[in-house]
Amino acid sequence: MKVLVIHGVNLNMLGKREPGIYGNKNFDDINNIIKNKAKRENIDIEIYQSNHEGEIVDKIQEAYDNAVDYIIINPAAFTHYSIAIRDALAAVNIPFVEVHISNVYKREKFRHKSVTAPIAIGQITGFSYYGYLMAIDYLKYRENGE
Ligand code: DQA
Repeated sequence: MKVLVIHGVNLNMLGKREPGIYGNKNFDDINNIIKNKAKRENIDIEIYQSNHEGEIVDKIQEAYDNAVDYIIINPAAFTHYSIAIRDALAAVNIPFVEVHISNVYKREKFRHKSVTAPIAIGQITGFSYYGYLMAIDYLKYRENGE
């Protein structure tokens, strides 16, 4: 199973950025935890981050050419308004899980709207970086059953 993890805008600042909301673990630590989990589960994983909407669109389009089976994406602020990222996800038709580190529904109203969630398999929000591991567990279950 080939999985692409996409982190959106400002997520490279994890660990430094609003630790009361996003925690103290830094971006590299979180990616190492995700990579170790993927390795244990025999999943071929690539992790990508960009602060640029168009680059994320390019990466999603590339996933189509690379026969990626699933995408796990935290679009970060792009979640709330990027029709371009939503359209790219719809275009490639690769099933995806949307992850948020914080519980967006506990926060400002503008974070309650996701333009991507309506076409996702599902959304995981509020479980810290553990949400990425939950997404991997779900994809494994989806492929192999219990
Ligand atoms: C976030 C929530 C978004 O509202 C915010 O813009 C982010 C991170 C999260 O992971 O909790 O940058 O996606």
